[in-house]
Amino acid sequence: MTEQTTGTAVVTGASSGIGLQYAEQLAKRGFDLFLVARRTDRLSELATRLQARYGNKVTKVVADLSKAGDVQRVVEVIRTEPAITMVVNNAGIMLMGPATDATLDQIDTLLRVNIDALVHISLAALIRFKAKGGGTLVNIGSVLGFAGYPGTSAYSATKAFVLSFTRGLQTEHADSTVKIQLVAPAGTATEGWDSSNVDSSIIMSAEDCVAASLKSLDMGEEVALPSVENLALLASYIKASTTLMGSAQTGTPASRYRG
Ligand SMILES: NC(=O)c1ccc[n+]([C@@H]2O[C@H](COP(=O)([O-])OP(=O)(O)OC[C@H]3O[C@@H](n4cnc5c(N)ncnc54)[C@H](OP(=O)(O)O)[C@@H]3O)[C@@H](O)[C@H]2O)c1
Repeated sequence: MTEQTTGTAVVTGASSGIGLQYAEQLAKRGFDLFLVARRTDRLSELATRLQARYGNKVTKVVADLSKAGDVQRVVEVIRTEPAITMVVNNAGIMLMGPATDATLDQIDTLLRVNIDALVHISLAALIRFKAKGGGTLVNIGSVLGFAGYPGTSAYSATKAFVLSFTRGLQTEHADSTVKIQLVAPAGTATEGWDSSNVDSSIIMSAEDCVAASLKSLDMGEEVALPSVENLALLASYIKASTTLMGSAQTGTPASRYRG
């Protein structure tokens, strides 16, 4: 197990919840930081606190990741700051309730933040890391990417995208020195999610979620499942989906569709 303790990390969605914990725990490990979010006051407060407590260099990048121009500014930081060794794509919006109850603007914003921004930032990070000969990309998905609850179709689909995209990137970089990790938390106590009607025993603190995810990274796991005890379930999931895909390569209609 190798604990990652040095470098400079970009953390998106650092102004609250899981992203704030990444900022806090990476700063504690010794990382300098670029903190990305919309709320300037929150970022300033966090930057001041982390600098005072750990002595790290902390830079704010105020950006709205639903806007292409702002995403491009974050991409430019990744392309031009040679010290960056880790990028954590954490910023995300939750949208609960039937998709037909949401406005198209809400759906568009969801797709732009949870998918478009994550793709642009992931690719910028990987191109940079490949050129440098190393680096770590962490994409925050969700267990809802494996199977969505009813009433979460649009949000769960964005997390299924993060799962599929990140797993695909891992296979494309299997022989490289670039590390890519998918983190799939379950219910976590943050501002983004109203857990007031949920059994509190199944909700993890953001602090524990990030501590487990960083430990998972140290252990070299490609997929961090902070709250899942039985890792064999992940192996079964991967095996079943790969077997299903392989079994479709027949070129003929299945017998039940013939005659
Ligand atoms: N909490 C859970 O149960 C849970 C479970 C599984 C996965 N996740 C995932 O974990 C990640 C973090 O969520 P969280 O629970 O920590 O939520 P949170 O407390 O609401 O934090 C979301 C972060 O994303 C940022 N953000 C939202 N929209 C943005 C935008 N347009 N541009 C830039 N930044 C934006 C917010 O910053 P500003 O508002 O300041 O911009 C905030 O820092 C998300 O990807 C979420 O899907 C959460």
